[in-house]
Amino acid sequence: MTKRILSCMQPTAHLHLGNYLGALKNWVDLQNDGAQCLYGVVDLHAITVAYDHTHLKQATREIAAAYIAGGVDPSKSTLFVQSSVPEHSQLMWLLGTMTQLGKLERMTQFKDKAGKDKERASMGLFSYPVLMAADILLYQATHVPVGEDQKQHLELAREIASTFNHRYDAEFFTVPEPIIKGEGARVMSLRDGNAKMSKSAESDMSRINLTDDPDAIVKKFRKAKTDSEPVPESIENMNSRPEAKNLITIYAVLAETSPEAVINEFGGQGFGTFKAALSDLAVDKLAPITKRMNELMGDTDELDNILAAGARSAREIASPVLDEVTTIMGFWK
Ligand code: TRP
Repeated sequence: MTKRILSCMQPTAHLHLGNYLGALKNWVDLQNDGAQCLYGVVDLHAITVAYDHTHLKQATREIAAAYIAGGVDPSKSTLFVQSSVPEHSQLMWLLGTMTQLGKLERMTQFKDKAGKDKERASMGLFSYPVLMAADILLYQATHVPVGEDQKQHLELAREIASTFNHRYDAEFFTVPEPIIKGEGARVMSLRDGNAKMSKSAESDMSRINLTDDPDAIVKKFRKAKTDSEPVPESIENMNSRPEAKNLITIYAVLAETSPEAVINEFGGQGFGTFKAALSDLAVDKLAPITKRMNELMGDTDELDNILAAGARSAREIASPVLDEVTTIMGFWK
């Protein structure tokens, strides 16, 4: 059976280098290895927290533009906006009837986002993992690339698929396998080697955005936190120095080489030299992406057409799956 890959990002803020190296680049590799891929912009998830409704449409386009600029090829992969495929919400309702409250209450992301005042959290935020399960099961995805933080949600999707199959005595839903990238691709904050590079971190200096121009990239790497030692000369030494490790990792992933090779080249040199080389490399790799994103955002007709076509092909898969689900569940039609 060929692999069917599905993954999604939320249109919440600008994408950064961590999203690119940790997720998007991997999506593109999977696409180019010949897997059938579906990549979604999950706007229905984005509205489970406070958001700017005057900006949602543009934020949605921006994520789609980043996918394309980063190498997702709409002629090979299906690129769609979640809300333009109504089957996601429909399947979610059905799956909600086979998801136990207790399991949702144990989701760490809900606990984090709801904070202390759980009574005021919305049902949307609470049921977010059920919608995510619907995203995945609707396409009978075999593999789902996700970050470490989404592992628990994926496990729930697997349980929901099994519950359905068991309850309705039908080997219907594919139980999806996670693809979790190893530590190698974890990009950390430029200000703190122990924290993930994040969209929501306060300081913009902590991340490289895909929309940053070369000057900003150079400045951010120049100011990136390091310790006072030169570039590590061994992996062992590197592993005990989070900031050094992060910069070496970023270099290695961008250059498609290993940390060992980077250490061989730069070990023992000052961080000034290494950071300059890293900036050059990052500018080189990111400039074409930023340029393509700007083109797509400058005239959105092309992008909107791609997304409309993507919604049609996504629905071609989703609609028969939902139809089969309602048949199995015994609905009048
Ligand atoms: N919850 C995921 C995140 O915040 C995004 C997401 C929604 C997703 N639906 C998905 C990821 C389906 C993979 C598959 O990162």
